[in-house]
Amino acid sequence: MPATILVGAQWGDEGKGRVADWLAGESEVVARFAGGDNAGHTVVVGEKVYKLHLVPSGILHPGITCVLGNGMVINPVNLIREMDGLQASGVDMSPERLVISTRAHIITPAHIALDGASEKARGDQAIGTTLRGIGPAYLDKTGRKGIRAGQMADVEEFANALYDSIEQANRVLAEHGVEPLDPQAAAAVYVDAAARLKPYLRDTSVYLNQRLKTGARVLCEGAQGTLLDVDHGDYPFVTSSSPTAGGALTGLGFGPCHVDRVVGVAKSFSTRVGGGPMPTELHGELGDRLRGTGENFWDEYGTTTGRPRRCGWLDAVVLRYAAQINGFTELVLTKLDVLSGFDELKIALAYEIDGKRVDYPPSTVAELERATPVYESLAGWSADISRIQAAADLPEATRAYIRHIEALCDVPVPMVSVGPERDQVVFF
Ligand code: IMP
Repeated sequence: MPATILVGAQWGDEGKGRVADWLAGESEVVARFAGGDNAGHTVVVGEKVYKLHLVPSGILHPGITCVLGNGMVINPVNLIREMDGLQASGVDMSPERLVISTRAHIITPAHIALDGASEKARGDQAIGTTLRGIGPAYLDKTGRKGIRAGQMADVEEFANALYDSIEQANRVLAEHGVEPLDPQAAAAVYVDAAARLKPYLRDTSVYLNQRLKTGARVLCEGAQGTLLDVDHGDYPFVTSSSPTAGGALTGLGFGPCHVDRVVGVAKSFSTRVGGGPMPTELHGELGDRLRGTGENFWDEYGTTTGRPRRCGWLDAVVLRYAAQINGFTELVLTKLDVLSGFDELKIALAYEIDGKRVDYPPSTVAELERATPVYESLAGWSADISRIQAAADLPEATRAYIRHIEALCDVPVPMVSVGPERDQVVFF
């Protein structure tokens, strides 16, 4: 049985957690391949709301093994905290349920301090990172001086590597005028977490290839989104990993021959958190309406940072691009219920930049900032669709909106979500 890759088609926060939860039901293994605890997936099961940052949502399905792949950057302290929280909710967190790649990289307290200092130094050009130390951890990885998860197997070696990392960071922090970290104190809690994570360490590429060979279906659960990809996103307003389909293969260590499905997830409108261009952003009443008040956990406020998200009309330029970069075989649309009650809905078909029409995002932020969306108007619908279960019961205007997106991206839409609960989905 082959692998399915699940990725975000926009700027993250597309509702991948609940789609992963659906696809996990058809999988034996669920694996994260990029990023770290900058991600936040919310999954609702009955009365319970689970907020996951590092552990794949497959953990909520008994019998599934979850993998933290080599492409990830892992904060051991936050991972232990998340595992303890899941265990307290009755989720089995034994080493049969979770395996951690010995090749994944470790986020240290130094990385977190450096993330904050670097954002401050950028001033009004700040990326708006999640301040989880993601960028500095990948910087050490590609600079060939990172600490890998496998080093946690030898607690003394791990502690020494941590002290070195903190001492090196202190020199940089001093240049930024930031208080240095006390290496012993900052590292202590990380060393304790490392000792607890030792039984979970494994060569996950070998493990995944063995499982694929013996017929297991593997779900590669993406975090963030295509427009945050370090190569394909709105550089430099991106994360430091490859959250796109290609990243799944390098981030897990198996070949493309195993992949038979690439599922994109897009919200039915656009949101973005942090800095960077967003051509269809709406300010004022329409944007506020899409965002919600924040009273409900599914309103547009970050799962990881609580920041209000920037909201706007659906951008088909972005979706078309994401379909191309990732090779989507299907596209799931989420939060369609939020669009109920708008008289008119708009979709950006193209951008106009310096008098020229462009169908794909330009590669520079400067050009994107000059982009004016070329909109198409579609009729809205007034009915509450949040309890509809059958596609035929959706208003005609809702079905037309979905069909139009399929045509614009040339990808079929097999499922839409109309609310936060597991069963608030409509299949086509
Ligand atoms: P970093 O990944 O913390 O370095 O943040 C870099 C950019 O990616 C910032 O604009 C963040 O807001 C954004 N970002 C990172 N992770 C997520 C996510 O899971 N959802 C949405 N945006 C994210």
